Amino acid sequence: MSRAMGSRYTVEYSKEMQEYFEFVKDLLDSDVVNEMKNYRHHYSVTCFQHSLNVSYYNYLVCKKLGLDARSAARAGLLHDLFLYDWRTKEKKPGEKPHGFTHPQIALENAKAHFDVAKREEDMIVKHMWPLTVKLPKYAESYVIVAIDKYSAALEISVHLGRLMKNKAKQIKNRKAS
Ligand SMILES: [Fe+2]
Ligand SMILES: [Fe+2]
Repeated sequence: MSRAMGSRYTVEYSKEMQEYFEFVKDLLDSDVVNEMKNYRHHYSVTCFQHSLNVSYYNYLVCKKLGLDARSAARAGLLHDLFLYDWRTKEKKPGEKPHGFTHPQIALENAKAHFDVAKREEDMIVKHMWPLTVKLPKYAESYVIVAIDKYSAALEISVHLGRLMKNKAKQIKNRKAS
């Protein structure tokens, strides 16, 4: 059972998510997408959860704007399919940092397992723009650039919120004892 952070609806079982689920069902059923659950991305949030967040909010925004909501959902789920822990991965001499290299790796992995449309390719490979210098070609690619940042900020603020809650609990317990 999957759910984007901040959403009330489970992807697989909610009526409200039916269209979204149809768009990404084959990806969610695949081993390679589920492999992202093994890698932490932002604090305690896994790469899978982050990608689901980006996919769902990307879908919602593109649908609202009359853009390609199917490509938005699919590219969102595949945009960080790099499949390693970026904190511990050893860098080869001269290799650029993860932020610059992972969109291309994600695209290669995505293409090895799924049919990726041209628009989706552009969204995946340019999602870190302007780090990746080439200008996005489609409106949907600009949307994913923004939604990726929005999702990261959401994930980090949830983490900070939990930290603050725990700290407050500790202080309360200390005062009570
Ligand atoms: Fe990324
Ligand atoms: Fe991302």
